[in-house]
Amino acid sequence: MFMLVGCGLGRQASPPNMMQQVNLGMIGGGTVGSGVYHALSKNRQLMESRLGIRLNWVGVAVKEFDEPRPYPIPRSLMTTDWTQVVKDPRVNIVIELVGGTTIAKTMVLTALSLGKPVITANKALLSAHGEELFAAAQKYGANLYYEASVCGGIPIIKALREGFVGNRITHLYGIVNGTCNYILSRMQHEGAEFDDVLREAQRQGYAEADPSLDIDGHDARHKIGILASLAHGFWVRPEDIHVEGIRQVTQADIRFAAQLGYTIKLLGIIKTVSGGGKSAVSGARIQVAVHPTLVPNRHVLASVNDVFNAVFVRGDVVGDTLFYGRGAGKDATASAVLSDIADAALEIKHGTRNRIPPFVPHANGSKVVPMDQTISRYYLRLSVVDRPGVLARISSILGEANIGIMSVIQPEAHEGESVPLILMIHDAPNAAMKKALAQIGRLKVVKAPPVMFRVETFD
Ligand code: NDP
Ligand code: HSE
Repeated sequence: MFMLVGCGLGRQASPPNMMQQVNLGMIGGGTVGSGVYHALSKNRQLMESRLGIRLNWVGVAVKEFDEPRPYPIPRSLMTTDWTQVVKDPRVNIVIELVGGTTIAKTMVLTALSLGKPVITANKALLSAHGEELFAAAQKYGANLYYEASVCGGIPIIKALREGFVGNRITHLYGIVNGTCNYILSRMQHEGAEFDDVLREAQRQGYAEADPSLDIDGHDARHKIGILASLAHGFWVRPEDIHVEGIRQVTQADIRFAAQLGYTIKLLGIIKTVSGGGKSAVSGARIQVAVHPTLVPNRHVLASVNDVFNAVFVRGDVVGDTLFYGRGAGKDATASAVLSDIADAALEIKHGTRNRIPPFVPHANGSKVVPMDQTISRYYLRLSVVDRPGVLARISSILGEANIGIMSVIQPEAHEGESVPLILMIHDAPNAAMKKALAQIGRLKVVKAPPVMFRVETFD
């Protein structure tokens, strides 16, 4: 028999019947909160035996006791006073699942100031106040965990923080909003109407309380900002992230893109731009943006459908990697919260904070490149009068701006007096493209505001 004596770690395993107990307090018992309660009830034994920790609920704060919930939460645990949960000395870990950037911020700061680890799924809060909250966590010696804030059940935060700690992240492309992906895929595959699919996404609990956060791209901006900050080591401010939502995407665009071999996705994009320093060290220049994008059908992201999210990460050591899973909904998001509960509980059990802190600022002088300085290919849909010479006038404006046309299609279908004209444009600077589009839009032969989406090559 082999016995290790006095190995110097200064800890002895507790006998099984002396399992340490960690007490949980949650604020919010809606879609995600009730999902967490349900998931922990289902897999409590499994988690406890994996962690060697007993997980115990002390309280759950909600707004109204009788609000309908996807899963029930015992009334005996509930309170409508969140301070009772946060300030209860028995509560070791606080889980914030309320949402929004006002009261939620006070809740998180109050818990951190008491030295309690906090778990949140609140990407809007992190996007707006992340820098301040992580600084508070540091000040009070308590970690702030946020796996559920990006891509529901996909462990992308852990992957970037721990799995890729030895990589510079040169490119990250993400389908990070489940609601938008659900809408775009059902429009594409079933010819469904935008508003009908949005209502269904709301019914399923995928959409934010204010769904314009989803469809106007702000939720994706919050998430891509969190990923960019984590990957590049400085806090990326939401106002530095270019954002376009999916309201402009029509059935016609989806059809034309398909004819050209593309699928339209709302992509969050983080790229290290050449000419700056190296990624994740001082002086890096990165492009961070969210917009509808034509993805070549041969690329794996083109086949990510419904509420699923996927994140494609290219590291300088690991190469290309892909993370895929449900990006929203009560169960998938609960899975991410359980993972944070495990980390926070282990931190308490071992009396030590995590090996790699949730966010470590380390890149001085790095910055986000203004969108106008970025270069992309484009898809352009114009509504023009069906008359000779129209294409010549449009190509002359593009030519003068030094913008090259790759291909042109003019489907036969008429839209009243006008016909659609689709142009695929070579790599061009955003500023030049914007200026040329404004000129094209002013032509009398152009009957509706031009529609422009970027085309991604994943090079
Ligand atoms: P819900 O609206 O379903 O739930 C919010 C919960 O917060 C409700 O239980 C509500 O109480 C409670 N609440 C609101 N105000 C207070 C208050 N002042 N004191 C105590 N409780 C309060 O939202 P979700 O569960 O969908 O979202 C929660 C968070 O998770 C958000 O930050 C969201 O962005 C994020 N998220 C959501 C995902 C999803 O798929 N839904 C996925 C990933 C992240 P009551 O029930 O009584 O109304
Ligand atoms: N509304 C969000 C989405 C929830 O649709 O992706 C998950 O963060």
